[in-house]
Amino acid sequence: MSEPIRVVVTGAAGQIAYFLLYIIAKGDVFGPNQPLILHLLDIPVMMDVLQGVVMELADCALPLLHEVIPTADPAVAFKDVFAAFLVGAMPRRQGMERKDLLSANVKIFKEQGEALDNYARKDVKVLVVGNPANTNALVCSKYAPSLPPENFTAMTRLDQNRARAQIAEKAGVPVSCVSNLIIWGNHSSTQVPDARHAKVMKNGTTMSAADAIQNDSWLKQEFVETIQKRGAAVIAARKMSSAMSAANAAADHMRSWFMGTSNDEFVCMGVMSDGSYGAPKNVVYSFPITIKNGKWSIVQGLKIDDFFANMMNLTGQELEEEHMEYPTINTKSFYGRR
Ligand code: NAD
Ligand code: LMR
Repeated sequence: MSEPIRVVVTGAAGQIAYFLLYIIAKGDVFGPNQPLILHLLDIPVMMDVLQGVVMELADCALPLLHEVIPTADPAVAFKDVFAAFLVGAMPRRQGMERKDLLSANVKIFKEQGEALDNYARKDVKVLVVGNPANTNALVCSKYAPSLPPENFTAMTRLDQNRARAQIAEKAGVPVSCVSNLIIWGNHSSTQVPDARHAKVMKNGTTMSAADAIQNDSWLKQEFVETIQKRGAAVIAARKMSSAMSAANAAADHMRSWFMGTSNDEFVCMGVMSDGSYGAPKNVVYSFPITIKNGKWSIVQGLKIDDFFANMMNLTGQELEEEHMEYPTINTKSFYGRR
């Protein structure tokens, strides 16, 4: 057994964290031989609720969980952390777009960027789940100038998992037979779910999603819209935003980052854009990613036709617009930090 690593989950008294903490603490993210110290951050008014979560974690009697530190102080929460799940933020309600949360959530990611900068390990892996996730991750990185921008990522794994599930159902195969779905751009209704590079194992043969499904117009329309609107559909049904599937995706994202991707597999993550595939630079844009030794790389050389290129431009423009909105909400010192 190695030394314990410190992992922080923010929004620890909330609904996503309720699932996520158990998945992490039982070893399903960092592996069965990695002991953990969990730091749980929430706001002061939630400390009583958080105590209940601490009691439940203790009552799980999980061997890998060496210590739990509940706190409302970011200086304690981010101290020496190896991995950060930034979940704590207001969720949207029915009828809202995720970017409507910018003004509500902006302060959180500024403050937490600063706390990461001051207290976390310099190789900390940061996953932003709180919406609007891509732009929050960008802001967090801007306020943590001593940390490399590649340490900051946003979650689009939930969209990728949703896309996998839809393709599996349509192709009539188990979800384990489907891989390499791509989500381009923003975790919003402009995201671009792209099945053209997906692989489907059907009747003992590996084939493209197009061959497995044989319905091009479904792949370009109904499939794309279903994934773009899935978060809203869950809210309409549950009257609360997705939680179990979001926690599962956050665990998948961090596990892939920590453990790496297998040979011909890629995963999707919002990462600092270098302009690949014509995406705007310096926004957090979701790309297909491979990971080795804890370092991610954008998959290069995939062919993009005009239909998808247009949609990819639109989602990139939306990210630039969200980025431009930040200084008007939060006037001090956003630009010029680096
Ligand atoms: P929730 O309301 O159940 O929990 C949020 C928690 O965050 C609350 O306990 C709240 O007190 C806490 N919080 C608020 N401000 C905080 C701060 N400054 N520091 C620490 N904690 C703070 O919400 P939820 O359902 O768990 O969702 C959390 C966020 O995740 C929302 O923004 C939601 O939209 C987003 N989300 C993202 C994805 C994705 O795919 N990227 C998926 C689902 C949900
Ligand atoms: C989701 O995709 O389920 C989350 O981002 C929650 C939301 O607001 O849709």
